[in-house]
Amino acid sequence: MIKKCLFPVAGYGTRFLPATKSMPKEMLPIVDKPLIQYGVEEAYAAGMKDMAFVTGRGKRAIPDHFDVSYELETEISGSKKEQRLLGIRKLIENCTFNYTRQIMMKGLGHAILTGESLIGDQAFAVILADDLCLTEGQGVLHQMVKLYDEFKCSIVAIEEVPMERTSSYGIISGKSIRDNIYRVESMVEKPEPAEAPSNLAVIGRYILTADIFDILRNTQPGANGEIQLTDAILAQAKKGSVIAYQFKGRRFDCGSVDGFVEATNYCYKNLYKEI
Ligand code: G1P
Repeated sequence: MIKKCLFPVAGYGTRFLPATKSMPKEMLPIVDKPLIQYGVEEAYAAGMKDMAFVTGRGKRAIPDHFDVSYELETEISGSKKEQRLLGIRKLIENCTFNYTRQIMMKGLGHAILTGESLIGDQAFAVILADDLCLTEGQGVLHQMVKLYDEFKCSIVAIEEVPMERTSSYGIISGKSIRDNIYRVESMVEKPEPAEAPSNLAVIGRYILTADIFDILRNTQPGANGEIQLTDAILAQAKKGSVIAYQFKGRRFDCGSVDGFVEATNYCYKNLYKEI
């Protein structure tokens, strides 16, 4: 069973400056809910209760969000507005939240390795909150947990992207096992289209077995001079097995302004309820 979900949230969010100058990018709201809350809700819906965050300087709004705000809550107690807090209260009551700081920004792989002390030696999930995933039924992470029960190895979520966009993603190629499931054979971080092994891009949902930490400790800087999670997962694939799962649902790249606006419009139209 996967109990813990790791959220690397130390990144600067430069694409949203000046909004992210003193506010974490993960706190940007899609309509009325911060991105990070969507991520935590997805992990909770997948059966996880231990939320682990790799934070950095300027990210204090995140722990504050997952805490009680006595003054505010007393103020609105008994009014209709209280309903606006039901979702976050449910998370606070049912989950634990742990934090550690990434002191230097040396890439996603380094961020995951920084989270080791919060995770321990069990398989765990990772959510990159920039990638907002919305589904009709079970959330993407829930779908992946079910696959983990079957395959008991690391799993990455993938989707097809236009070939000219490969340099923004980790790209996999693999052997199709059955509908929507591949056994990963190669994985490259942000390749130019000419070097990309396919157009199957990794998006920000992972289940990782705990041997990833030892591999990351020995992973040299790769693309952009950063320690890349992609390189460590490829090492797992070569040693044993990694599954890539083409999930059911829709993903918005909220790390880009276009994706953020698209997600906002979609959520306003389809999910928002006035209280
Ligand atoms: C990270 C990963 C990349 C993955 C992407 C998904 O890149 O390194 O492999 O495809 O997330 O969003 P980033 O977007 O942080 O540059």
